[in-house]
Amino acid sequence: MTEAIVYERIGDIAVLSAQNPPVNALSIDMRRGLLAGIERAEEEGARAVLIYGEGRTYFAGADIREFGKPMVAPVLPDLCNRIEATKLIVVSALHGTALGGGLEVALSSHYRIAVPGAKMGLPEVHLGVIPGAGGTQRLPRIAGIDAALEMITTGRPISAADALNKGVIDRVAEGSPREIGLAYTRELLEQGAPRRPVCYMPLPDPVDFDDTYEKVLARGRGQLSPAIAVRAVQAAWEAESFLDGVRQERELFMQLMETDQRQGLIHAFFSERAVSKLPELTEVTPRDIASMGVIGGGTMGAGIATTALLSGLSVVLVERDDDASAAARDRIEGNLKGALKRGKVDQAQLESMTVEALTIATDYADLSEVDLVVEAVFEDMAVKREVFAALDAHCRPGAILASNTSYLDINEIAAATSRPQDVIGLHFFSPAHVMKLLEVVVADQTAPEVVASGFALGKRLKKISVRSGVCDGFIGNRIMNSYRRAADYMVLDGASPYQIDKVMTEFGFAMGPFAVADLAGLDIGWAARKRRAPTRNPRERVVQFSDMLCEGGDFGQKTGKGFYAYEAGKRGGSANPQVAEYIKRDQRDQSVTPKSFSNEDILRRYMCAMVNEAAKVVGEGVARRPLDVDMVLLFGYGFPRFWGGPLKWADLQGPAAILDDIRRYAKEDAFFWRPAPLLEQLVNEGRIFDDLNREVT
Ligand code: 3HC
Ligand code: NAI
Repeated sequence: MTEAIVYERIGDIAVLSAQNPPVNALSIDMRRGLLAGIERAEEEGARAVLIYGEGRTYFAGADIREFGKPMVAPVLPDLCNRIEATKLIVVSALHGTALGGGLEVALSSHYRIAVPGAKMGLPEVHLGVIPGAGGTQRLPRIAGIDAALEMITTGRPISAADALNKGVIDRVAEGSPREIGLAYTRELLEQGAPRRPVCYMPLPDPVDFDDTYEKVLARGRGQLSPAIAVRAVQAAWEAESFLDGVRQERELFMQLMETDQRQGLIHAFFSERAVSKLPELTEVTPRDIASMGVIGGGTMGAGIATTALLSGLSVVLVERDDDASAAARDRIEGNLKGALKRGKVDQAQLESMTVEALTIATDYADLSEVDLVVEAVFEDMAVKREVFAALDAHCRPGAILASNTSYLDINEIAAATSRPQDVIGLHFFSPAHVMKLLEVVVADQTAPEVVASGFALGKRLKKISVRSGVCDGFIGNRIMNSYRRAADYMVLDGASPYQIDKVMTEFGFAMGPFAVADLAGLDIGWAARKRRAPTRNPRERVVQFSDMLCEGGDFGQKTGKGFYAYEAGKRGGSANPQVAEYIKRDQRDQSVTPKSFSNEDILRRYMCAMVNEAAKVVGEGVARRPLDVDMVLLFGYGFPRFWGGPLKWADLQGPAAILDDIRRYAKEDAFFWRPAPLLEQLVNEGRIFDDLNREVT
């Protein structure tokens, strides 16, 4: 017996309790313990086995840390088959999250009971694999083909009530898993209930698997695992026997284990959890934040106020005048009504948020009691400095003063106050009540407890918070500017914006860069280009076609036209014919002879620009670790999760190959394609970006 599984005899019942905090992952010790427990129960002549988890959950799945390493016996599918085959009655009592291999152990048991709050699911596709211990073979037999395909291909967990409905579990009962499990097992023994292996249950009628496969593949936007999962389910019908089906499922599981997508998704899983763990903050206590001020109720201010209200904070929003205040209230109420529609809040909560928790004012004096203020006024340094001077005058000592600026220097903003230690950047993404990313921008004098408070606030708002240093655009917008420029240069040199958008959506982005620019508003980039023009290096290539669009009043979706032309009520747009004319004019003005680009070349240049700037951002210390950059791009810019992030992608391609390409592009434009010193260093040392993630803990 191992310590991870504790064996106990209570009368006729052998009780196997999992003790592997925090989530009872099915590590090798757990698997050995379960196998030994079944064998000992058989040897000792027990009549039944009860399996449950101590702590917060039943098994939450295979131990993901073992992925990519050699498998050690007993492997999970064999263990599940062994559990199912025992002559004793096996009962699993579920609480917490019975996920992946955890649910597969439960499905190998003969009976299942759960507490009302338990959740269960097969989320393997989110890790780039499929259920690999019989899940695709047993679930259709027990829950039917539609429910099984839904659970397996989406990875979404279901509630205990839903599971009962679908036949995944036999009973729901209040109590601890140990209590309800023992009571149920005793009852089954008293009734003389038979063993009930799922493998003997008949299969339901099959579906058209080829059709399902195609649909799931299309939905995955390049992600393979959900579609492969369909093939694994299909094997249940085509296999020679149940065990042959399990074997075929395992083969597909092992093939996916070898893929880049599996590596990317596992990287995303662990990085998402590592990103807000900063060693320097472990001993720092954040300040209490119960109320929040917001300055400006435009797109961002209203979104920030909404996310704060939804997380239970009270909000005082300050606008310029009554009209702007009324518009801000409308925006917030509109956002909250959206949340009501999606079932995130009920009518009573909505009313309490808009009536009791929200104050809209035009006087800074109303901010005298708040714990933290986020400024979201126009992107103009003079306006921001004025606002911060006013905040300095009106906010109580110890209040945190934050700016949501996209690009501006937080140090300069902090200098407008007498308390730069309390000033920080909190860069939300639009729409702020939907987007998960929060960049916590640390200025030169920001106090550690103010940084800790930024992270604590992010956690409360359910954001993924990433630390950034100060620079033009911080981590995300700075990198975006670089790959956007690469895209613009390709257009000037002959690629079409629509070809680029198509290549990038095929890579896995939800939208291409030109469609994104239309959505965000072309005027934002236009203003930034004008702001930078006086200090621009004369060696920098400058494209004009975007400015031509803006000069004509076409700012993208909000004006009905940009790179695409939009029709009211229709999703997406069609190519705006004026764009081709502007591009031609730009090429003529700059004496550029257009050439054609292959899809592969477009992808490579776009990604090399992203990786190169990301490496500069890490090398300069703006981002602490490569994984910080990866999470910014994943949660703020729609980077395909199955690639793990741009620097994980770079590791998978090999940093040396990327540096070679950058040096080749530099022959055309040596100014833009200056290799990042960190990239050169890694290549010289034969290392990859992920090595740096492991160095900083
Ligand atoms: N293996 C190893 N470690 C795991 C793990 C797993 N399956 N699941 C969670 N952990 C770790 C996390 O990395 C974290 O570690 P840290 O404290 O060092 O950062 C710790 O456990 C706590 O996890 P969370 O912070 O995520 O805790 P939450 O309470 O927010 O969430 C959870 C708990 C819902 C279980 C969530 O962790 C989760 O979704 N885990 C993954 C579940 C999963 O995907 N299971 C399937 C695995 S694949 C499989 O089973 C293959 C099989 O078919 C053969
Ligand atoms: P916006 O133009 O929609 O809203 C600005 C609001 O600030 C207006 O309602 C205006 O009335 C108000 N305002 C201006 N001066 C004020 C003052 N002195 N006191 C009180 N209110 C004042 O702008 P948006 O898009 O919301 O941007 C705000 C800030 O957020 C900018 O710094 C921007 O760079 C940043 N940001 C914008 C994002 C976006 O996608 N729109 C994303 C992330 C950050």
